[in-house]
Amino acid sequence: MIEGAQHFPDYLDATAQSALLADLRRVVAEAPLYTPTMPRTGKPLSVRMTNCGALGWLTDKSGGYRYQATHPETGQPWPAIPASLLQLWSNVASGAPAPEACLINFYADRTKMGLHVDRDEETLDAPVVSVSLGDDAWFRIGGLDRRDKTERVLLRSGDVFVMGGSARLAYHGIDRILPGTSMLLKGGGRINLTLRRVTRPA
Ligand code: SIN
Ligand code: FE2
Repeated sequence: MIEGAQHFPDYLDATAQSALLADLRRVVAEAPLYTPTMPRTGKPLSVRMTNCGALGWLTDKSGGYRYQATHPETGQPWPAIPASLLQLWSNVASGAPAPEACLINFYADRTKMGLHVDRDEETLDAPVVSVSLGDDAWFRIGGLDRRDKTERVLLRSGDVFVMGGSARLAYHGIDRILPGTSMLLKGGGRINLTLRRVTRPA
């Protein structure tokens, strides 16, 4: 795997996963999941999203990919990032400036996410830290060029995956989720959180 990519299987045990899920339910109660749309075409993404943190990542037909401080439907500021996630960041991204954005992606059974690079951030100094909850997913990670060889990694509930160093700008995506592989989410599906630093520290 590309330098700077690190998989931490079972980072969160069952108790920590349930506690994090309870935190996320509070976030989603304030900042409901919504269906984002592609820049220009307005085509809906299959993943549903919301955010917590000072900034949230979003995309829609008129504004494209961006960070903003408010929920696109409620107009309210995003809820704060739960303390447990700030702690997780300081453990796996020690030395990096604090995260400003936590994108919450909800994958239903047939949701995929095409290969892409996370590059809407003003600073690339901090890693992207991803946390998975719920059903297993085949994650794909390659290199800095879309044509580079890729490999797949099974991300399971409680796993953490870090993309720092050279891997910060690596192509990655989700091939598919494996329905029925976790009991954590009552209705099934998968939640992935990605924590990111967006602005350059002062
Ligand atoms: C993402 O790249 O934004 C999400 C990756 C994942 O769902 O594991
Ligand atoms: Fe990504």
